[in-house]
Amino acid sequence: MLFTGGNRTRQLLHLRRNMLKMDISRIRHEGLRSLVTTAEKAAALFEDGMLVGASGFTKSGDSKLVLPALAERAKTEDIKITLMTGASLGHGTDGKMAEAGLLHKRMPFQVDPVLRSKINSGEVLFIDQHLSETAELVHGFFPPLDIAVIEVAYIMEDGSIVPTTSVGNSVSFAALAKKVILEINSTVPENIYGIHDIFLQDDYPHRNYIPIITPDVRVGRKSIPLDPAKVAAIVFTDMQDSPADIAAPDAKTTAIASHLIRFFENEVAAGRLTDRLLPLQAGIGKVANAVLAGMEKSNFYDLTMYSEVLQDSTFDLLDAGKLRFASASSITVSEECYKRVFSNLAFYRDKIVLRPQNISNSPGLIRRMGIIAINTAIEFDIYGNVNSTHIGGTHIMNGIGGSGDFARNSYLSIFVTQSCSKNGSISHVVPMVSHVDHNEHDVDVLVTERGFADLRGLAPRERALKIIDICSHPEYKEELRSYFERACARYEGQTPHILEEALSWHVNYRDHGNMKARELV
Ligand code: COA
Repeated sequence: MLFTGGNRTRQLLHLRRNMLKMDISRIRHEGLRSLVTTAEKAAALFEDGMLVGASGFTKSGDSKLVLPALAERAKTEDIKITLMTGASLGHGTDGKMAEAGLLHKRMPFQVDPVLRSKINSGEVLFIDQHLSETAELVHGFFPPLDIAVIEVAYIMEDGSIVPTTSVGNSVSFAALAKKVILEINSTVPENIYGIHDIFLQDDYPHRNYIPIITPDVRVGRKSIPLDPAKVAAIVFTDMQDSPADIAAPDAKTTAIASHLIRFFENEVAAGRLTDRLLPLQAGIGKVANAVLAGMEKSNFYDLTMYSEVLQDSTFDLLDAGKLRFASASSITVSEECYKRVFSNLAFYRDKIVLRPQNISNSPGLIRRMGIIAINTAIEFDIYGNVNSTHIGGTHIMNGIGGSGDFARNSYLSIFVTQSCSKNGSISHVVPMVSHVDHNEHDVDVLVTERGFADLRGLAPRERALKIIDICSHPEYKEELRSYFERACARYEGQTPHILEEALSWHVNYRDHGNMKARELV
């Protein structure tokens, strides 16, 4: 139906040129084969003001052709959409869409520098959302999506779809969108089938419990149900996911990892954990990756992960025999690791599972399984409040991602960061955080390259002494001590503060590029 009108001959020639990339056998529902078209034709289906859902979670399993084609369209046409995805997209797609003026509103997460600057300048509206929560809103708050764009490995005989390297929110998008555009990625082997565990939740008030009690159980289907009548177009692509940027561990991240491992060893010695620990969650960023890499040399064994992203370090730990099983919502790895995973799927198949993000990040499951959550902070304060998202209290970096889902509900909520950076101009331990993502009630352990502060069982004043003493950098320690002592003496309180001074370090950084420029306050 998409070939009627316009220049049909040119369209068919274009299609024929791309035939080599198309493996039509990946559309096993024969009635859908006539819907194969180009990304440009598929992009023509969007209208101004539409609410759109797209696959993609931390750069994996995202739309590689249709959204970029829509961005091209927006360069010359007045069209704006509200776009929700699983999490961030790869290939600079968020940047291309933002640059073209296509995005009115975006949720729930992003990492793109161009989009970030458009959000911070107010040109694009951004909802920074817990990743478990988007599906809740799709099912209960937002009107039905106009269009969903979903990358798949193939379409099954019954019209259900086999996702690729992420599941994200695709289950909800497929269920609730009025129309669905499918991008079949021929670089993803069809034997990926079986890696996904698609558990469908009922709407409230009929929701039942999720029968996952350990990370390694499978409780759902292997493909995402989809009504074939909703499929509006099918596009073939042969582009791989954008590779993850992996920063090699450096002195600071290695020190953080070793403090964390010492903390776990102490927990084992105290009888609170065993050598198998508890299921691990590790956030994005160079520190989290280094921490997992550090596990390889530790004495812990038979480990499991219940996380949202499987990174290179996950596969290194599986290869080393340290990790027995890993559950998440996406595989986001370097190019080398991508090749390793897909050429050895038989080895990894029974060791990993990809779930919808409302299941991988389900607060109830995180609490039930006693997850150890390790996430990265932008900064934390002397009482243990953590900022993961905003620079200087105003400018978004990436978003809260899954850190809140995990931090609030885990058995051990750990945050890591370096004590100071940028030649000492930024202290990551501050009197008061300039934005709160994880409050003092949700944070158990803070780690910097200087050491770990176990905050469990401590009142705010006790926490302050420990955090300053153990986590802060020597260049900032005396100032932090002085702030705390003066706050206690002058104003008292459960969490004593000198309000007129509490954010002065951030003001100094904003105005002078250095938190230490205190004489300028
Ligand atoms: N003040 C000013 N700038 C700061 C800062 C601070 N307190 N803390 C960090 N920055 C800057 C860094 O200097 C760096 O800037 P640059 O790109 O110009 O060098 C940038 O922010 C990123 O910091 P970096 O230390 O390189 O970050 P990272 O790769 O370790 O990521 C987070 C850290 C917090 C941004 C990242 O982990 C994140 O987005 N977390 C929230 C989401 C999350 O936790 N998800 C978990 C589940 S997957």
